[in-house]
Amino acid sequence: MQNRECRRCKLAKKESLDGGLLILSFAWSGPVPRAGQFFLMRPLRTRVFLARPISLFGSTSGGFLRFLIALRGRGTEDLAAMGRGEEAELTGPLGNAWGDMALPAGPGPVALVGGGIGIAPLAAFAAELAEGTFDFYAGFKSRPFGLEGLSRKPVIATEDGSEGSCGRIPDFMDPAGYRAVYACGPEPMLQAVAASCSVAGVPCFVSLERRMACGVGACLGCTVETAGCNRRCCADGPIFSAGEVFR
Ligand SMILES: Cc1cc2nc3c(=O)[nH]c(=O)nc-3n(C[C@H](O)[C@H](O)[C@H](O)COP(=O)(O)OP(=O)(O)OC[C@H]3O[C@@H](n4cnc5c(N)ncnc54)[C@H](O)[C@@H]3O)c2cc1C
Ligand code: FES
Repeated sequence: MQNRECRRCKLAKKESLDGGLLILSFAWSGPVPRAGQFFLMRPLRTRVFLARPISLFGSTSGGFLRFLIALRGRGTEDLAAMGRGEEAELTGPLGNAWGDMALPAGPGPVALVGGGIGIAPLAAFAAELAEGTFDFYAGFKSRPFGLEGLSRKPVIATEDGSEGSCGRIPDFMDPAGYRAVYACGPEPMLQAVAASCSVAGVPCFVSLERRMACGVGACLGCTVETAGCNRRCCADGPIFSAGEVFR
């Protein structure tokens, strides 16, 4: 069974960004999470019953975990309303990690492709990879965010042309020459990335979003249809081989 814990954690730092985004840092002394994994998160002072899944964005020395959060509804609004020192219940780390995916042996870099808030788990992955072993592609509707800590300058595309190339990021990523492609973002973006990888014969791994309840594989509320059978996004994912989920 996966090593996870449920703890009350104090909010150590809150950074508000433009465009309804924020970075929350919590003190965490539980099992060390790996990039791609997520936590169920719920402030003690909240209007929602179910905790919300949020990916690891980064960690700092001293045992602080960082989360990049986009405001969507009540759950994320209540996280944003927390003050420093206030407590939230964090359960995790949950799910699989990018590093669990079998990578073909050999030289050559990998490509990380993130869209919008999907940048978060890939930024965490970039921090685990050695410099020069990956390229980072980042797509946004408008102004970019979440890229400050990267050791490598990303390729950026914005739909409104406000920064980088104008358009959608899959159009600027050629999978040829990469050992594998790891992607997280809106599903149409993932499908486009998966399709180009399939043509190029490059393995592609995608992190999926589903509404979640238990987060540990018990309620079957987060089903992902795959080629062989139904899988649970929380316990069998959230990262899947693209060929399994996009056919
Ligand atoms: C594994 C995983 C990792 C995630 N990591 C992050 C992260 O790092 N940062 C982050 O900001 N968000 C992340 N999310 C998404 C986050 O969990 C949702 O935005 C959050 O649950 C919304 O809750 P809410 O109460 O604010 O909005 P709600 O009031 O629940 O919903 C607001 C609106 O968003 C839609 N919505 C909510 N959740 C989802 C979803 N999962 N998929 C599709 N539509 C949805 C609803 O249908 C509704 O229209 C992740 C989700 C998963 C499954
Ligand atoms: S959220 Fe309960 S099985 Fe995935």
